[in-house]
Amino acid sequence: MTTQEMKIAFEQAYGHKAEKIFFAPGRVNLIGEHTDYNGGSVFPCALSFGAWLLVAKNNDRVLRFRSMNMQEVYEIAIDAIAPQANRAWCNYALGCIDIIARRHPEAKLESGYDLLYYGNVPAGAGLSSSAAMEVVTARAFTEEMGVSYADDKKYRTELALIGQACEHEYAGVMCGIMDQFASAQGKKDHAIHLNCDTLEFEHVPVKLEGIKVVITNTHSPHHLDSGAYNDRVRQCHTAVEQISKVKPIKFLAELTEEDWKEVESAITDPIAKKRARHVVGEVARTSAAVEALKKGEIAYFGELMTASHVSLRDDYEVTGPELDALAEAAWQVEGVLGSRMTGGGFGGCTVSLVKDEAIEKFKAFVGAEYEKKTGLKADFYVAEIGDGVSRLE
Ligand code: GLA
Repeated sequence: MTTQEMKIAFEQAYGHKAEKIFFAPGRVNLIGEHTDYNGGSVFPCALSFGAWLLVAKNNDRVLRFRSMNMQEVYEIAIDAIAPQANRAWCNYALGCIDIIARRHPEAKLESGYDLLYYGNVPAGAGLSSSAAMEVVTARAFTEEMGVSYADDKKYRTELALIGQACEHEYAGVMCGIMDQFASAQGKKDHAIHLNCDTLEFEHVPVKLEGIKVVITNTHSPHHLDSGAYNDRVRQCHTAVEQISKVKPIKFLAELTEEDWKEVESAITDPIAKKRARHVVGEVARTSAAVEALKKGEIAYFGELMTASHVSLRDDYEVTGPELDALAEAAWQVEGVLGSRMTGGGFGGCTVSLVKDEAIEKFKAFVGAEYEKKTGLKADFYVAEIGDGVSRLE
């Protein structure tokens, strides 16, 4: 789909031309899973897949939402913006417009708008199609509503925070900041090492000589729904409360592996203990992985990815048979440096580091093993690491 084709679709739908076009990417997380809402660090990259948004003002004081991917069309009066029932897809956009107005007293929505979305992030793949939609909407409507920042980095962080608030309030998922941040602050051929407590970050070049980042989609029907996700968030809070009786902390990510040995016995809830053990280990693995990448120690980076999957499988319990089948098959292929689930979990994708010469063998072996175990067909994409949100026209 080209932007030209999107413009034609806009004109066909609304009978007038689009005024502006925006794009925001999806993301793949290399390591640092379920650490963001625990005050830890993450290491995602923006992808070349994402969400496009075409907008034009209308004279009707309504917001009209259409998507080239979805059947439903919504029309909402600009003075009646509120969450829509039945998991309406427009909530991911509407929420951002509402939150911009609430976070920025100077923001004014002075007319109605016609909107058309198009997305090419594989649906349900855990590659943040919803964050892309939130961030592209936040980008477009901060501009339309007159919110401006002198500092581009601060602006992009604000776009991520708007998207996250939308996810909390309009989708009911108490997510961390990683997905929206990666979509807002991505940089071509770089990963983002983000401290999710302070929101300080660094772009780290992903220079992998003769190695590719390969994303494999389970196409699994099981997804990490808001229930299972919010349960993990609560279990981590329980661990923080119990640990705080012996060592006051705000976040699990404050604990080093040394601290863990001292505080572990304070957690009486066995589930909360497993969840906390994952977080403490994952925070340490993420820092080690970032250092390894900077030094070009890619084999070690890969080992840490694999250890991350094991911990997400055994302690955090968010992998499930499909993601395990993909990762376990990948570990057997010579030329695979590491492989793990990426994103929230259950369904979605794995991310693997694969030597160029092993890619064909990887696809054939992992694809066949996966189908044998699950009856499903996997899809493979070589990741292209792209830039964060932007206005294209
Ligand atoms: C989802 C959430 C993120 C993060 C990941 C797990 O993608 O939206 O905030 O918690 O799961 O790392």
